[in-house]
Amino acid sequence: MADKKTDKSRRTVVTSALPYANGPIHIGHMVEYIQTDIFVRFLKLTGEPAIYCCADDTHGTPIEISANKKGIPPFQLISDMHKEHLEDFQAFHIDFDSYYSTNSDENREYSDFIFNKLKEKGLIYRKEVELTYCQKCGRFLPDRYVKGKCPKCNATDQYGDVCEKCNATYSTTDLVEPYCTICGSAPTRKKSNHYFFKLSACSDDLKRWLQENKNLQPEVKNYVLNWIKEGLKDWDITRDGPYFGFNIPGEKDLYYYVWLDAPIGYISSTANYCNSIAEERGDKCSVDDYWKHGRIIHFIGKDITYFHFLFWPAMLMNSGFSLPEDIAVHGFLTVNKEKMSKSRGTFFTAKDYLKILDPEYLRFYYASNLTKSMSDIDLDFEDFRSSINNKLVADLGNFAYRVLSFLNRNLGSRSSDFSEPKLEKELRKKFEDIKKAYSSMNFREAVNLILETGSIGNKYFQDRKPWDLVKENEENAREAVSFCMNLVKNISILVKPILPEFSAKIEKQLKIEEQSWDDLNEDLKNHEIGTAEILVKKIEGELESIAVKDPFAMLDLAVAGVLEAKPHPDADKLLILQIDTGIDKRQICAGLAGYYQPEDLVGKRIVVIRNLKPAKLRGEVSAGMLLAGGDGKSVRVLEAPDSIPGSAVHVNGIEPQPEKEISIDDFAKLMIKTEARKAYYKGEPLKTEKEEVSVDLEKGKVS
Ligand code: 2FM
Ligand code: ZN
Repeated sequence: MADKKTDKSRRTVVTSALPYANGPIHIGHMVEYIQTDIFVRFLKLTGEPAIYCCADDTHGTPIEISANKKGIPPFQLISDMHKEHLEDFQAFHIDFDSYYSTNSDENREYSDFIFNKLKEKGLIYRKEVELTYCQKCGRFLPDRYVKGKCPKCNATDQYGDVCEKCNATYSTTDLVEPYCTICGSAPTRKKSNHYFFKLSACSDDLKRWLQENKNLQPEVKNYVLNWIKEGLKDWDITRDGPYFGFNIPGEKDLYYYVWLDAPIGYISSTANYCNSIAEERGDKCSVDDYWKHGRIIHFIGKDITYFHFLFWPAMLMNSGFSLPEDIAVHGFLTVNKEKMSKSRGTFFTAKDYLKILDPEYLRFYYASNLTKSMSDIDLDFEDFRSSINNKLVADLGNFAYRVLSFLNRNLGSRSSDFSEPKLEKELRKKFEDIKKAYSSMNFREAVNLILETGSIGNKYFQDRKPWDLVKENEENAREAVSFCMNLVKNISILVKPILPEFSAKIEKQLKIEEQSWDDLNEDLKNHEIGTAEILVKKIEGELESIAVKDPFAMLDLAVAGVLEAKPHPDADKLLILQIDTGIDKRQICAGLAGYYQPEDLVGKRIVVIRNLKPAKLRGEVSAGMLLAGGDGKSVRVLEAPDSIPGSAVHVNGIEPQPEKEISIDDFAKLMIKTEARKAYYKGEPLKTEKEEVSVDLEKGKVS
């Protein structure tokens, strides 16, 4: 794309992957939204008719289960999340033209349309499958909801799709000694009649597209061509109820798999733009302008390559749409060189970040590190601070302030003509290079070149010494500063895709209209500017503070009702409890024998950790853990007698952000104490909406 002349009458739709509607946007997600936003802003700045479309990815088992956990209908969950996500995106200046939902009428229509097209082409067939089914939960268990021993290497506690120890891939039914991660019980198998998409029949067409497309990253292409070479498997595109998704036409309790209707969300979000947003902007367009006659550009993370390079193009090419002109694949975000993690304090949401830092810092930092490549990018706190303070603030912000405030203070805020043909030629070359860098998604290069532009200006200002010049000849000083002032204006244009607010501030201080790329050629001569103000501030203080999240937040603590209790057949100290956690019924083992008669526990409302990694204790599943205080002599359970099962247990000041699963070691690090028949964490009592949690102990430690 870099040097190909683009046809300005051809429309472009650009997308980012749709975030799941069951969790907050975090700074890892932000890499892609910032990357895409910079690209689209650049296209628009250069006059391309481009739109940026995205949506919430609202379907699937995890969303249904999340909603269940929160005790709200899925519709409520996805609508709350939609608002939250939009807030975060706006705060980071992510400028979507349409931010829609996959749970929309348009998406249902396009899903049915594409499904029927594939069917007409003979690419859909039915097949009976045998799947893992939990009798107790009354549901089929997708791979994240069943664990067991790896069938290859026998490693324990592996998910139903891939072994983290030996990397073997398999089906949920292959797991040895499987258990349901929701309730802990052993699942059975059940047959169901599913729809399959004949991906294998598309191999040749996919191969041709990959080979002919000149924009795709070679590293990704090779990867995908290899998958094709190894032989593509057909794709099960249906899921049984209970499921949150679209019903398959003519079927009772069968739904499209979330990954079928998710990418179709790109099209329906475009439809939303054309039908509900374009008009008020004086634009008129149809989905076909983008999806049949236009250019389609996706940005995705490397983890979803398979879906976007195989399933998705196969769906598009068989239902009358164009194929993507480009799919830019980026790597993951690491923080201080490690995987983001809540327990290490290096996981933070968009909202955590915004409490402490300016969103444009992150835009600048990500841009400085982004190329069109699959390598991971690292948010290194030290590097972040020095990049903001020494580059953004010192080289760009300070230069602008220095020039404009000089004009204010010494030259009546008015510019004049100037002539620096040699330097201007050098700069024009830089502007061209910056344009190329943006077009080829090499934002790191664009930032470096913009910084070089700033250095040219800084050096010029320093060399011409306008503070001396002004004493001898005001007009000479004005010429020198006017050259710099125009450079400030040009920097504001060049950096605009990355720092829209920074640029808008410069435009305001210069008293000029919103600039576009062509304005790089328009000098402001004999122009009166407004008042200069500081544009960006340095980062002071400890950056680490953005990452501190109390580890207590990772617990999924809730009230549970004890339904049954009995001694463990093989362990003297353990009792086996059947409990109702509000979202499910499950079994836990607890070291309470000797402290309670089993029957005394029945009916109690206790406090449990629902997201503790399930374990087997002497042959009995323990899916979670109850909290009890001990003082060396006695052990008493924490209780919340007036709260219903499922009520959240929290402490003031710590917003729960449960990890999917925590280990007993994570928990052991937290000091929860009991005092005067209450339980405390960092001086705050554990409580539900209704009451403070109680425990029949004067002083002790909870474990
Ligand atoms: O991996 C994810 O987060 C998915 N929600 C991405 C979907 S992208 C597209 F296909 F919808
Ligand atoms: Zn279950």
